[in-house]
Amino acid sequence: MVALVDRTSLERADEMRRDFVANVSHELRTPLTALQGFIETLRGPARNDPKARDRFLDIMEREAGRMNRLIADLLSLSRVESEERRRPAESVDLLALLRNVVATLTQAAAAAGVRIELAAVSDPVAVAGDADQLVQVFHNLIENAVKYGGAGERVRLEAAHIDHEPVVRGAAWAITVADEGEGIDALHLPRLTERFYRVDTHRSREKGGTGLGLAIVKHIINRHRGRLRIESEKGVGSRFTVVLPEMPMR
Ligand SMILES: Nc1ncnc2c1ncn2[C@@H]1O[C@H](COP(=O)(O)OP(=O)(O)OP(=O)(O)O)[C@@H](O)[C@H]1O
Ligand SMILES: [Mg+2]
Repeated sequence: MVALVDRTSLERADEMRRDFVANVSHELRTPLTALQGFIETLRGPARNDPKARDRFLDIMEREAGRMNRLIADLLSLSRVESEERRRPAESVDLLALLRNVVATLTQAAAAAGVRIELAAVSDPVAVAGDADQLVQVFHNLIENAVKYGGAGERVRLEAAHIDHEPVVRGAAWAITVADEGEGIDALHLPRLTERFYRVDTHRSREKGGTGLGLAIVKHIINRHRGRLRIESEKGVGSRFTVVLPEMPMR
């Protein structure tokens, strides 16, 4: 008897795991190297220069904060992955949830000169979901729209009801986060939800991003048996649409 086993998928998974470990190590090493460098400078040349000391301590605080965010995002990703097979069953009022997320981001947006608008919808927007995870989804999408959507513009949230969405095999809600920013080149779109993938690594780092946000978003939406659609046009803006199965409020 001959048993044939296709090992390509196993090898591919192995390769992805290796890439992931290499990426994590690199992402952690960058701020760590900066911290070590500043510790040396503070011990040596900057020892008696209070002005330089304050500046370096600020940078060190920022780099430590980045490491902290990276670890929080990694933990969050692994938590989401571990429960991806368990479908959430709560009924969540998305409109109330979106209002809360907007409230937490309004100040940061205003500081960046961005207005966040929530288009009015009359119906209750109820979906089957995990409220904490859906907060994470919309927090990241709106934060991205503010961060990369360009200053002096607006970010618009829209909710549309779909009577029959083949993807969720029934009624659904489509929530769109639209910005009027620079847009994303089509060649990046398919890779955007990969871990650590960024269009402009330097710029994302500068803004404190870890590049894990959309990977977490994708896993959460998968757990909800929903879909993420990304449309973008250079110079016009981007639209990130989350499609979730409807669930009448109980
Ligand atoms: N609305 C948008 N407009 C333009 N580019 C975007 C937009 N949203 C995401 N991107 C691009 O996609 C990349 C990945 O986004 P993601 O949310 O995964 O990471 P991040 O925002 O850099 O980090 P984090 O979410 O952890 O803070 C970003 O670095 C940015 O280049
Ligand atoms: Mg992000």
